[in-house]
Amino acid sequence: MRHPAKPHGFVTKGIHWVSAALIGYGYFKGLDNPSQLADPALLQFEVIFALALGAVFVFRLFWTHKVGGRTRLPTDAPKWEHMASRAVHIGLYAAVFGIVLSGLGIALGYSVPAVGALTMWAMIGLHEITLALLPILLLAHIAGALWHKIIRRDGVLESMTGRLPV
Ligand code: HEM
Repeated sequence: MRHPAKPHGFVTKGIHWVSAALIGYGYFKGLDNPSQLADPALLQFEVIFALALGAVFVFRLFWTHKVGGRTRLPTDAPKWEHMASRAVHIGLYAAVFGIVLSGLGIALGYSVPAVGALTMWAMIGLHEITLALLPILLLAHIAGALWHKIIRRDGVLESMTGRLPV
């Protein structure tokens, strides 16, 4: 390995692993049925959780684009790696924002009777699709990280874990 990737900064790493923990917790605590939202305390908790997750991802988008810098994939990596990495990163953001926004829409529908049944159906559908897509994207993301660790040995995984490349 001639040029180990420059590590991501402390803030980028911090947000990355905090958001990973939030997502893990989100799936762990998941609801079995939207009718559980009839419980006002649970509804309130879900809204706060969605707002927090959304805020972390908006901040993260701002931070990596404007301050910390985006991918550490070496510039001379093959074009397909750049395309795959970008597609999966965009997909991860899209899935998380899809989950958060549709979740907030569902919560709004539970509180405001004016929201029609068709709108609720569409939002629950979007919520379910994005909730199913995210783990697939995460598997691709982790496979990519392992690809860089085992095959490329270019320090891309270590740029986010903070450990020295070996
Ligand atoms: C074991 C779990 C994970 C590993 C090993 C891992 C690894 C990495 C690595 C090595 C990078 C840097 C890639 C680069 O510089 O191009 C990265 C970036 C990124 N990761 Fe993960 N990750 C994990 C979990 C997650 C989770 C749960 C999410 C949540 C959606 C996530 C979302 C992202 C995003 C969006 C980026 C692009 C940079 C950014 O905007 O912060 N990762 N990850």
